[in-house]
Amino acid sequence: MPIEGGIIVIGWEHEFISANMEKLTFICPLDRLSDPGSYGFSLEADENSLEGFVVRRDGECFAYRNSCPHTGSPLDWVDHQFLDIEGALIQCAVHDARFLIDSGLCVSGPCQGKSLQSVVIRVQDDNVYLLGEA
Ligand code: FES
Repeated sequence: MPIEGGIIVIGWEHEFISANMEKLTFICPLDRLSDPGSYGFSLEADENSLEGFVVRRDGECFAYRNSCPHTGSPLDWVDHQFLDIEGALIQCAVHDARFLIDSGLCVSGPCQGKSLQSVVIRVQDDNVYLLGEA
């Protein structure tokens, strides 16, 4: 098993076990995200898959499954576009629900009071990684 800079590479090229034995899966370089900005991703490993997106605002990153709590539809209507025009809230393109960036709570629209499903990520070495299983 090759070891690169303290990281053990397993399986395919975007999957790593960190030095403290956490599984990390590469999502995107941090500079792929504007601030504010968003980035949609799709990961597949074994029988698992994950459609999600990362939002960056004020230097912090948050990630959620790309599934609206209203109907389960994807939220984006343009690739990688998950924010409203002001970059202040996450917006579902289907029926215009709006969600807080830092918690995923729906604050207006047909699923008000419900939340997006969060995805645990880590920003490390100027990259964004999924932490754990897809
Ligand atoms: S599917 Fe998102 S608001 Fe209806």
